[in-house]
Amino acid sequence: MADRPKAKAYQPSRMMITHGSQQLLYILAEILFDPGDIVLVEDPSYFVYLGIMQSHGFRARSIRMEADGIDLAHLEATLEALKQSGELPRLKALYLVSYHSNPTGTTTTAAKKAGALKLLRRYEAAAGHPIYLLEDAAYRELRFASEDIPSALTMDRVGDRVIYTSTYSKPFATGVRIGYGLLPGPLLTAALRVKGNHDFGTTNFLQQLISRALSSGAYDSHVQTLRKRYAKKAAAMVRACRKHLPTNVKWTKPTGGLYVWARMPARVKTDLKSKLFAASLKQKMIYVPGNLCYADDPTRRKPNREMRLSFGSGSIPDIKEGIARLGRALKKVL
Ligand SMILES: Cc1ncc(COP(=O)(O)O)c(C=O)c1O
Repeated sequence: MADRPKAKAYQPSRMMITHGSQQLLYILAEILFDPGDIVLVEDPSYFVYLGIMQSHGFRARSIRMEADGIDLAHLEATLEALKQSGELPRLKALYLVSYHSNPTGTTTTAAKKAGALKLLRRYEAAAGHPIYLLEDAAYRELRFASEDIPSALTMDRVGDRVIYTSTYSKPFATGVRIGYGLLPGPLLTAALRVKGNHDFGTTNFLQQLISRALSSGAYDSHVQTLRKRYAKKAAAMVRACRKHLPTNVKWTKPTGGLYVWARMPARVKTDLKSKLFAASLKQKMIYVPGNLCYADDPTRRKPNREMRLSFGSGSIPDIKEGIARLGRALKKVL
């Protein structure tokens, strides 16, 4: 990590090991929020986190996205609106998937993280309690065409407002499911207690495996290999999109992570009940419908013409074939 030497925020005493970072996201839902509480999320956000929120009865407010992360003006306007409506005391956190996000591949700049932290602090007095920045860095190490960016941890001078979650499953091996988090002290104590009740501790065998891979250098060299492999797969997917999708379909060019985010022409829906989804399934091709990645937010309509395409597990020939099939499905629908 680029900021590792500087940051006392990375002290091992603030760290907990989890069964995948997903477990920590779930534990945080149990210790930090009550039903009816509000979480600010990116628009769109990681749909499995939205699932956690939904199952716990949390409410969402979505913050508009720009190419380099959340729109800070919209964050401020949302905080102000919550203050005016008297709902600010229900706001507990802003959740950011800050590196090569799932689903859009967006990476949040350091300036935006610092700006977001400052804004959250400013509204704490009116909220009457801390408002945390929950930074999900699952894809941080899976960069292949960009530099690392400091975590929000390094901008949290007192070390009491940023919760950082990350994982070895994405950059090392999906089956390993060892994750970790860095938490402010009081939250760490609560999270460790709940984790003990969940599982008695993370599988020792897998922790040993990661520990030895890290200390032997095998981890670093494997991450380098994967970065090169994913860079090739991402490029293959982008080339296939250019070749097989109509010009009025727009897609991202990933600089890391595992996903391309594509937007269909205005009249083409992508949800599970859409003609395009049915036509794609008929071609034995599947995508994640974009509307699943948008939180239920009463202040805006959910978009329904996007999709997340993954280049993670398929081979390059499969990726090319998959996009060709999507192109055929689209032609049928159009
Ligand atoms: C943004 C994000 N966070 C967290 C996770 C959880 O990953 P794991 O539990 O394997 O660490 C995922 C998995 O897809 C993800 O995309």
